[in-house]
Amino acid sequence: MGVDLMEKIFSLCKRRGFVFLSSEIYGGLANSWDYGPYGVELKNNIKRAWWKSIVYERDDIFGIDASIIMHPDVWKASGHTDNFFDLKSDCKSCKKRFKIEELNDKSKCPECGGPLTEARPFNLMFKTQWGALEDESGIVYLRPETAQGIFVNFLNILNTKHPRLPFGLAQIGKAFRNEITPGNFIFRTREFEQMEVEYFVRPAEAEKYFNYWVENRFNWYINLGIKKENLRKRPHSKEELAHYAVSCTDIEYKFPFGWAELEGIANRSDFDLKRHAQFSRKELTFFDDTTKERFYPYIIEPSGGVDRSFLAFLIDAYFEEKVKDDIRVVLKLHKSLAPVKIAVFPLLKNRSNLVELAKNIASDLKKSFFTLYDDTAAIGKLYRRQDEIGTPYCITVDVKSLEDKKVTVRHRDTMMQERIGFDSLKEYLRTKFED
Ligand code: GAP
Repeated sequence: MGVDLMEKIFSLCKRRGFVFLSSEIYGGLANSWDYGPYGVELKNNIKRAWWKSIVYERDDIFGIDASIIMHPDVWKASGHTDNFFDLKSDCKSCKKRFKIEELNDKSKCPECGGPLTEARPFNLMFKTQWGALEDESGIVYLRPETAQGIFVNFLNILNTKHPRLPFGLAQIGKAFRNEITPGNFIFRTREFEQMEVEYFVRPAEAEKYFNYWVENRFNWYINLGIKKENLRKRPHSKEELAHYAVSCTDIEYKFPFGWAELEGIANRSDFDLKRHAQFSRKELTFFDDTTKERFYPYIIEPSGGVDRSFLAFLIDAYFEEKVKDDIRVVLKLHKSLAPVKIAVFPLLKNRSNLVELAKNIASDLKKSFFTLYDDTAAIGKLYRRQDEIGTPYCITVDVKSLEDKKVTVRHRDTMMQERIGFDSLKEYLRTKFED
């Protein structure tokens, strides 16, 4: 089912307008993807659910949105200029490039059997030029993680929000890595989006908050419908820790290609603030006015990928069910993530009074929910289309509706149908989406 399921998800994404190959009319840019009309909704809903849980429902975390291109010294201080390398080897025959840690035989090309070059370090940061100067002084990088935009704003937040410890800063944004082996659809790409929190704590409380965030983030995925058996926590061994981390636990999802990282929760200690203080020569300690102590807070960092969550939510929600002699494909997405919330159809598209009524209901619902009107196929086909994109409720207006002032509401997961009056429809749906 594994590879097969990936293919089904890939095909559904293309067929229904979730994800397209980037620059497709030019043959595509390998491993680069564009999000279509339903994809962008799902992606925005994931980000909204994260922001709600991390920023709006708490008092101790503030949002920021930093620049993608930062001062080049940021990357010297962060250690990325010196440490953000993968070892790579090139095939002398077919010229393909491989990540050393993924090779079983480090002397032979796994694709054509040709000889490989010596292993060489390859910095994963994308270089570009800032302004008109063509010399070294204009070299800047696309950020490989959003985190550094938070650290360099630490002082601004201390001076404007005057927070007490523990407090956090949250950011969602693009990050770029020149990955040697991107792949598995949107799982590993060179341009992706991260959702990161940097949570500043007293050093003595770092472990407590590290454990807290591992649980908090694990439960976020479960509460949004990921099946518990498909999610696990995996503590890192000392050898695999990033250069800034003293401990790290990954939340992994059971993708069709195996268990793989969805999010990492790291204890970054005081590494980042100390390094930025050293390189910027600014005071980046925290003064605790209750204990009168000055110190560098430790940082606990939950760092997740939007695109990977997108893939996991899609895979987990994908079902094929036998209905009479047919197979229905249905995305049982959590209602808050579903790209379209409601679809409205007239049972008969050649009856103008039904069409008009259905359009009026749809345009009224649009004010509160993302609602689609559709009359381009027979009712069975319209239901299947909405099932495939995970629309929780379909509303059908039929001839009887003109008399009893009621519509049929069909539930995506159970296919159960019930009649609801026009005047109570909005309230009925509102309570359903609040569940
Ligand atoms: N600031 C810490 C940090 O960046 P990371 O484990 O390298 O840690 C965090 O990345 C998350 O970003 C990952 O768990 C993953 O969800 C996402 N991510 C990292 N590299 C990615 C890539 N090449 N493609 C898609 N998502 C990626």
